[in-house]
Amino acid sequence: MDNLDKKYLILTYGCQMNVHESEKLAGILENNGYVSCDNAVDADIVVFNTCAIRESAEQKIFGNIGELKNIKVAKPNMIIAICGCMSQQKNYAEEILRKYPYVDIIFGTHNLSKFDEMLKSRISTGKKVSSIVEDENIELRDEMKISRTSGVNAWVNIMYGCNNFCTYCIVPYVRGREISRPEDSIIFEVENLLKQGYKQITLLGQNVNSYKGVARNGKEVSFAKLLSDLDELNYEYRLRFMTSHPKDLSSDVIDVIANSKHICHGIHLPVQSGSDKILASMNRKYTKEKYLKLVNEIKKKIPDAELTTDIIVGFPDETDEDFEETLDVVRKTEYLQIFGFLYSKRKGTVAEKMDKQVDLKIKKERLSKLLAIKNEIVNKKSAELVGKTYRVLVESASKDDTLYGSLDSGKTISFNGNKNCVGEFVDVKVTMARKSVIYGEIVNEEETRLFKEKNFKLPIECSILPKDQKTMKILRENKSNKKQADDKNSKK
Ligand code: 5AD
Ligand code: SF4
Repeated sequence: MDNLDKKYLILTYGCQMNVHESEKLAGILENNGYVSCDNAVDADIVVFNTCAIRESAEQKIFGNIGELKNIKVAKPNMIIAICGCMSQQKNYAEEILRKYPYVDIIFGTHNLSKFDEMLKSRISTGKKVSSIVEDENIELRDEMKISRTSGVNAWVNIMYGCNNFCTYCIVPYVRGREISRPEDSIIFEVENLLKQGYKQITLLGQNVNSYKGVARNGKEVSFAKLLSDLDELNYEYRLRFMTSHPKDLSSDVIDVIANSKHICHGIHLPVQSGSDKILASMNRKYTKEKYLKLVNEIKKKIPDAELTTDIIVGFPDETDEDFEETLDVVRKTEYLQIFGFLYSKRKGTVAEKMDKQVDLKIKKERLSKLLAIKNEIVNKKSAELVGKTYRVLVESASKDDTLYGSLDSGKTISFNGNKNCVGEFVDVKVTMARKSVIYGEIVNEEETRLFKEKNFKLPIECSILPKDQKTMKILRENKSNKKQADDKNSKK
C-alpha cells in the first residue's frame, strides 16, 4: 500500500463525545494506511475535531488552525481537515475556508461516516471538499471501525443529539434531534468490548436519561431497562454514563443503580444554576427544590453516591442573590467535582438575545468564588478518604512504576506498583491526601505479581509543533525566511 508510511494527527477539542468520534476518525485513517503521530510537522494529514460550546474553545481552535499555515507552506501536500461542532454551525464552513484557504476538507457532525469518501476524493482529485449536511443515516456511524485510544476505557454511544434547547446551548443546533440506538446493537458492542478486556464502559449521550431504544421484540426500552440489561453481563467491569439531565433522571434509574453490580456510584448531574429564576430562563425545567430532592433521593438510596456537576456563572440577569442560591446548592450537595464555566454567548441561541448580560469582571469574580468553595469541599472530602481501602481500576502507569487508577466514584488516585497492574482491579488503601490529590498503597501486593502485561492503547499527547528543539529551530528559520521573502515582494 502506497500510504503505508503516512502519518495522521487528530487534534480533539471539547467533550467525551468528540474524544470518541476522534476514535472513529482514527479508524478510517488507519483503514487508509495512516499511522498516528503526535505533532503536525510529522503529519501527512491533520484533523481538527472541533467544539463550539464556548467562544473560548473556538478562539483556541482558530488560533491552532492559523498556526498550521507555516507548516503547510513548508509541506504543501499535507492535508488539513476540519470537522465537528464548530464547522457544523451555520455559515462557519464558508468563513473558515475564506479565512484559512489552505484547509482541504471540511465537514460537520452529521457526516462523520463519510470522511473516508471525502479523504479519497481529496487525494484523487486534489480538489477541496466541503460538505455540511443536516441529517445522516445514523446506523452508518455505529458500524464504523473504532481505533480505541483511551486505555482500559471504552466509550459507547447510546444516543445522538439533544431535544432540550437549554437557552445558552449550541448543542441542539449542531447535533440535531435525539436518536437512540437499538438496545441489541449497544449490548452487542458492550459485550464485545468486555471480551476484549476493556474494564470501564461509559455510555454516551447528551441526555442519556431520555434514551428510548427498541428491543429485538419491538418493545420500547427505557434508560433504566438498558442499564439493568447491561448490568447482567457477567464480567468484572464498571459501567458509567454521561450526561444526565436532572429533569429526566427517574427513580427507576436510581433504583437500578442502587441494586446493580457494575454501575458506578459516581454520577454526573449538571445543575447549571441554583436560582429558580435563572433555571427557568435557561429552560432547564426543574427548580432548586426539585434538584435538591433528587440529590436527597440519590443519597438515601445509594449512601456512597458521589455527585459531580457543571455550573454556568454569569448567565444573563444573574444577580448576586441568584449566585448565592447556586452556592447554597453547592454547599448542600457537597460535590466531588465541579466544572465551572463563564457564560459564553452563542450565536443563534435564545440567550444570545437576552438583556442584562453580566459584566465579564463580575463573571470572573463569581467563578473564582465558586472554585474556592469547590476546593474547600473537595479537599475536605479527599482528607476523609485517608485510612480507607477502595477497589481501584488501574488505568495507566508512568516509567517510575507510579500507577494511576480510579475509584468507583471516578476520583483518581496514584500509588506504586508494577505496570502489569494496568487493566486490573486492585485494593488500595488511601495513605495521604494533599489538597484534592490522593495517594495510596496496594493492599495485596503479592497477588499483583501474577498479572500479565496487556496491550491497551493510551491517548497520546498531541500538539501542533513538535516538542524537540531541533525541529522548532528549523521551523523558526523557515518562518523568518518566508517573512523576508514576503517583505521583499511587498516592497517591489
Ligand atoms: N456558556 C458557558 N457554558 C456552557 N455550557 C454549555 N453551553 C455553555 C455556554 N454557552 C456548559 C454547561 C454544560 C457543559 C458541557 O458546558 O455547563 O453542561
Ligand atoms: Fe445543551 Fe441542555 Fe442539551 Fe445538555 S441538555 S446538550 S446543556 S441543550
